Amino acid sequence: MEIPPIPATFSAATTFRKSATEPERVALYVAAGELCGEIEQAVSGDDEGEGRWLTLAGASGCGKTHLAREIAVWAERHHGCYRRKSPPEIMQTRSVRFYACSELARRLRDGDYDLIEKLAGVWLLVLDDIGAERDPNGYLAEQWYALLNARLGKWTVITTNLSADQISERLDERIRSRLWRGRNVLLESNATDWYAPKGGAA
Ligand SMILES: Nc1ncnc2c1ncn2[C@@H]1O[C@H](COP(=O)(O)OP(=O)(O)OP(=O)(O)O)[C@@H](O)[C@H]1O
Ligand SMILES: [Mg+2]
Repeated sequence: MEIPPIPATFSAATTFRKSATEPERVALYVAAGELCGEIEQAVSGDDEGEGRWLTLAGASGCGKTHLAREIAVWAERHHGCYRRKSPPEIMQTRSVRFYACSELARRLRDGDYDLIEKLAGVWLLVLDDIGAERDPNGYLAEQWYALLNARLGKWTVITTNLSADQISERLDERIRSRLWRGRNVLLESNATDWYAPKGGAA
């Protein structure tokens, strides 16, 4: 499969540093850049076609939220509906939203029943830190499944501390199966905490 080039606009704008000595960190950057490359290709064609998901899974502090936010900022700046010169049809369709799942969980529990439908229609949606909330009766897991099922074929970035197996156990087996369905990509990163103390004994 041909790997789409990483857009220069994303390389130039990202503050996610790529260290040659840490392949796991480079892999995170490349996965983000590839997604942006595909988005760029899609929007430049006559028919945008279907989007896909990128799920970044990994330890706390490895940079998932940092990268996901940069994807959203890039998409909005270069392809989103807020570009001043966007034609009206793009203004309506290319919405970019970044949400912490803790915030969405609060709104769902407060009875914001239209939320899932609204999120399902977003052009590029980032769901940051899915699966971190306490969910004793499985209400949130049900909502996440409904949302993600509705987002198959749409540009979606997910970050999580959970592995694929944990997603299956704690959320839903059907969510796990969708993480790599079609063109969706799951990156289970071994990158370490960016701020973890470096080096051994003095
Ligand atoms: N490659 C990087 N270059 C520069 N800063 C980084 C990099 N990776 C992480 N950081 C910084 O480290 C901190 C932690 O990163 P971030 O919040 O993205 O981690 P996370 O993987 O989302 O962690 P958690 O699972 O706890 O949410 C942030 O201040 C972020 O900007
Ligand atoms: Mg995070």
